[in-house]
Amino acid sequence: MAPVPLGGTIRRMSHTDPLPRDAQSILELAARSMFDLFANASEGMMLVDRDARVVWINDQYRRFLPALGFEREEDFVGQSVSSVVQNTQMHRVLATGKPILIDLLDNRAGTFVVSRIPLRDAQGEVIGVLGIVLFDHPETTLQPLIAKFARLEQDLKEAQRQLASQRRTKYTFASFVGSSPAAVEVKRQARRAAQSTSPVLLLGETGTGKELLAHAIHAASPRAGKAFVGVNMAAVPESLLESEFFGVAPGAYTGADKKGRDGKFKLADGGTLFLDELGDMPMAMQVKLLRALQDGEIEPLGSNQVVRCDVRVVAATSRDLPQMVRDGLFREDLFYRLNVLPIRVPPLRERQSDLPALIETLCEDIAARGGGSPLEIGAEAQALLAAQAWRGNIRELRNVLEQLALRTDAALITAADVAAVLREAGLPELAPIRAMPAATDAPADLRPLPEQIAELEQRAIAAALAHTGGNRAAAARLLGISRASLYDRLGSPDGVSETQTTV
Ligand SMILES: Nc1ncnc2c1ncn2[C@@H]1O[C@H](COP(=O)(O)OP(=O)(O)O)[C@@H](O)[C@H]1O
Ligand SMILES: [Mg+2]
Repeated sequence: MAPVPLGGTIRRMSHTDPLPRDAQSILELAARSMFDLFANASEGMMLVDRDARVVWINDQYRRFLPALGFEREEDFVGQSVSSVVQNTQMHRVLATGKPILIDLLDNRAGTFVVSRIPLRDAQGEVIGVLGIVLFDHPETTLQPLIAKFARLEQDLKEAQRQLASQRRTKYTFASFVGSSPAAVEVKRQARRAAQSTSPVLLLGETGTGKELLAHAIHAASPRAGKAFVGVNMAAVPESLLESEFFGVAPGAYTGADKKGRDGKFKLADGGTLFLDELGDMPMAMQVKLLRALQDGEIEPLGSNQVVRCDVRVVAATSRDLPQMVRDGLFREDLFYRLNVLPIRVPPLRERQSDLPALIETLCEDIAARGGGSPLEIGAEAQALLAAQAWRGNIRELRNVLEQLALRTDAALITAADVAAVLREAGLPELAPIRAMPAATDAPADLRPLPEQIAELEQRAIAAALAHTGGNRAAAARLLGISRASLYDRLGSPDGVSETQTTV
């Protein structure tokens, strides 16, 4: 075995009171015995000097050299350890002076259980590190431990993969079903917003598709290639909101967050930050959010450095924000900052002509998830569904359809099935069954006249087409307009005729 500088491995207890001569030599002997034991029992040893250069390897270590990419010992010894052993941590031990008693080292030569011990001189200065390969092939020697490690690593990869796929946009404008004038208009506004860099504010009741539109806006924007990151103000406890948004610097906390954590701003860098249920944001957080948006930079908790973040904000709320501003519950300056491109998302009752198409899409989606074939809903059952107030809008409609899917194996859903599910769901009094399409319960006088006229027109066309079984020429005659004029009005690619006549 090559000579080894041993002096540094023994630290005297005190410089003023040196050990008696015989105790000193016993210690040195013990150290040498331990060293020999490790040298023989281990799979290899290496020594680096205070500059992290490899100064010595033992005979056993030599057999790893080919796998590490070295033919000759001379090419390995003398090099900086990090340039010849991937993933080495020897420099960390040099820097901290603390041993790493047991660790897994993974590199091109294999996976090893290693130990790294700092060497100190008589003054206590770290002058090098002894690296010991305790086992190679830990997969056999340390089978249970490695299996657990592999399982955790697998879980981590899976979680990271899921997270990445969740951050990708789920919906595009095509996912927003509807060809009623109100639906067409909201999609038109959202498409235009996608091309802008200004903040978007989606306003509408719960379940109207605000989140879906936020995804679609991102997917149609130049930022589509980057992350879409959502934060739901109503779902995150107030005390955690700040770290959720801005992240935590390494070492700011002990425990799980010791390593630091990126906030949503950082995760959304270059992409879109979706602030859901904006009206539920606490005042204190509103101030901080406003500052972050104005400055384009954030300060992670426990850090005193600012980080630049480029995010495009899309916010949504079902609350009446202007009223909240008047009541002093929402900051006016933040409201104006976010209310640049407001989009009102209409409730279902204002676009009842979309119901058949929505029902069809939702049934297909439910079937795709459940693995069965889509529900088929009879005409009377459809009419009954169409007559509901749908306070929870599309989400509530979806729940009812899910209940129907669970409830029956029959090929055709009847009005009685629907009535039973509505009753079980505790939904308000059933409206009388009436024919489709029906869109008369919208608060007509509250909407722009052109919108109402367009809606009336579409409804009349749909009724005429239904009456003529889809025959456009006959429908045009019934309506007293030219065929060309009818085609003109059916112009949109997802034209009204398809959705209406299939009912
Ligand atoms: N126009 C639409 N077409 C198809 N599905 C829709 C539409 N609008 C909403 N949904 C569905 O309804 C549910 C509620 O929509 P969501 O976007 O979460 O509403 P909000 O954020 O306004 O509460 C979701 O499952 C969504 O996919
Ligand atoms: Mg929502």
